[in-house]
Amino acid sequence: MKKTVVAAVTFWALVLGATLALAHHGPEVINLDKFKKAMAPVKFEHHKHQDRVNMDCLVCHHMAKAGDTAPKPCSECHQAKAGDAPSYKDALHKNCQGCHKEQKAAGKNPPLKCNECHVK
Ligand code: HEC
Ligand code: HEC
Ligand code: HEC
Ligand code: HEC
Repeated sequence: MKKTVVAAVTFWALVLGATLALAHHGPEVINLDKFKKAMAPVKFEHHKHQDRVNMDCLVCHHMAKAGDTAPKPCSECHQAKAGDAPSYKDALHKNCQGCHKEQKAAGKNPPLKCNECHVK
């Protein structure tokens, strides 16, 4: 009896795990390092962040359409220098730090200091 319960729980945990894993898109980890290189690159846990927003890609990929699994990279519009869109640096800082400040206020512990994101 106990064994059956354990097996059933394990089975559904695996199914759930596989479903969640399948739902991830794009690279798992992205080394953000474009344009000016004054700072060390930023190791960005893309899939972990997808889980943190319950797979709502539009939180970051704001120009994509709902359900789009291959949105354009930010750098296609956000360039080294600001044009119609803010510069890549400003756009990423606003997106990343904006949420991190909110999450800090909500009791989480995301990186806020320069060298916590730009890690050598
Ligand atoms: C929440 C993460 C995060 C924090 C905190 C952060 N940055 Fe960034 N920063 C990024 C990302 C992402 C980019 C875009 C990717 C890249 O080019 O490195 C970037 C880009 C930059 C760039 C342009 C790229 C380059 O290497 O020249 C500079 C300059 C920069 N950041 C300076 C700073 C400074 C100074 C601080 C602290 C006051 C800081 N950043 C804090 C994430 C962060
Ligand atoms: C917390 C912010 C964030 C969330 C949430 C997010 N992404 Fe991303 N994603 C990024 C950043 C930043 C990049 C790197 C773009 C760049 O360097 O220009 C990226 C890159 C990608 C790429 C590679 C683009 C390319 O051609 O280089 C794909 C595909 C992608 N994301 C899909 C998704 C999908 C699908 C979701 C939702 C399930 C999602 N992302 C959720 C921030 C996010
Ligand atoms: C198809 C072009 C395009 C892509 C791709 C794109 N952006 Fe933007 N983004 C814009 C334009 C244009 C603006 C300025 C007008 C606006 O605010 O909508 C902007 C504005 C922003 C702003 C400033 C919003 C504000 O309130 O000041 C942030 C932050 C931002 N983008 C982050 C990102 C991130 C992060 C990505 C990639 C995950 C991304 N963008 C991808 C075109 C784009
Ligand atoms: C919608 C909210 C949100 C956005 C947008 C966001 N983050 Fe985060 N980030 C978080 C949260 C929440 C954590 C985890 C805090 C904790 O564990 O207490 C985190 C953690 C991190 C960490 C620590 C390692 C990890 O992933 O656990 C890094 C580095 C990081 N974020 C970088 C970035 C960068 C770079 C961007 C922009 C490209 C970004 N984040 C955008 C919410 C966000």
